[in-house]
Amino acid sequence: MLTREQNELLTHTEPGTPGGELLRRYWQPAALSEELPPGGPPLPIRLFGEDLVLFRDEEGRPGLLGLHCSHRGADLSYGRLEDGGIRCLYHGWLYDREGRCLEQPGEPAGSTFHERIKHPAYPTREAAGVIFAYMGPGGPPLLPAYEFLRVSESQVFSTKYWHDCNYLQANEGNIDPMHLSFLHRLLREGGDFNRANGRPRGGNVSSNELFGRDVAPTLEVEQTDFGVRIFALRDAGNGTRYVRVSNFIYPNLSAFPGGGGGEGYGVNWHVPVDDEHHWKFNITFSRGAPLDRERMRQQHDAEVGPDYHLRRSKANRYLQDRREMQSRSYIGLGPFFPAHDKFAVEGPGPIQDREQEHPGSTDKAIMMARLLLLKGIQDVQQERDPMHVIRTPEANRLGHVGAVDVVLSNDDDWRSVWQRSLPIGEPAPPRA
Ligand code: FES
Ligand SMILES: [Fe+2]
Repeated sequence: MLTREQNELLTHTEPGTPGGELLRRYWQPAALSEELPPGGPPLPIRLFGEDLVLFRDEEGRPGLLGLHCSHRGADLSYGRLEDGGIRCLYHGWLYDREGRCLEQPGEPAGSTFHERIKHPAYPTREAAGVIFAYMGPGGPPLLPAYEFLRVSESQVFSTKYWHDCNYLQANEGNIDPMHLSFLHRLLREGGDFNRANGRPRGGNVSSNELFGRDVAPTLEVEQTDFGVRIFALRDAGNGTRYVRVSNFIYPNLSAFPGGGGGEGYGVNWHVPVDDEHHWKFNITFSRGAPLDRERMRQQHDAEVGPDYHLRRSKANRYLQDRREMQSRSYIGLGPFFPAHDKFAVEGPGPIQDREQEHPGSTDKAIMMARLLLLKGIQDVQQERDPMHVIRTPEANRLGHVGAVDVVLSNDDDWRSVWQRSLPIGEPAPPRA
């Protein structure tokens, strides 16, 4: 439970808000690379309550500028891509990726007016099929060298889903492992509802089966340099235990096991559009073999439109099928996890009123994450770097970030399973 003031601090992220100032200290997903193909049109986007235009210059480098022209406000997303930047259609002002105004055709020869224009511009980077932006003050930190941002194109699948709710309640869903025993449960696997590939290492049944066998996991959490490591421990029968390790990664993403059908894990990164809407960027990667991207694309396209909105929404009651609930799935919303989560996290309304909630013992990780976020807001207000802002290559060794699930003997040490599974020793190459 939070007071109204605390809830506002954490959920309000528009320009000038303390929560927004915190999130802007980190690289954030701005769009998918596939939305901005080389030679394609500029893309209008909205992030943290700010209207922006994303474009590629003639060399293919992404630039992110304020949407409205500094002259008299025309919409730059209709602009011409030429002469080293983007040109406004109204009177021809030309901007480069750094927000410099290069030309003002209407001004007299020799005018220096253009030198005094500083158009809003944010640095960008591209990795794992995602274009990232740094919208904070000062020099940007390093882009975190997460394993999922460093694998080859064939090992990663990135997409995004529109959500009609605040970013925080959705990320809190990722760090609540209890809901896997209810929200995502299949009563019968097979056909379109096949999760046979979701079998944890050491286990001889699917994770779905294990979530159903023990619906009351024991939760253990530990604070780390990157956020919170979460252990969900379930009785798997015959003297074994199902251990599921997930992460809250500061400040607005999470890592969780599964998703790709191999070694690797999934990531949800929740980026505010404004206080009542957000994009959930979803990145799935495989550590070894390439992903079956074609199959993932088919499953995705069956549930998600070309505008990245899910077919199931509040307006159509998420197409719930009450007959499906009798024999196939616990909730009657089909086999696609993101649809289940969207239903669950939009339920509390655009911004969850946390004065009305009653968190229990399985909400431990959420409580710890909120405290860390409140602390980060304070750090920014006192002009300190909040946690997990990375400025040196040494601090960018992030092999210990990651999710894993495994079935172990009850005698085996569950706390160290992530150390035995993640590529911890590998050095992280510095990124510019
Ligand atoms: S409004 Fe853009 S050049 Fe005039
Ligand atoms: Fe979920």
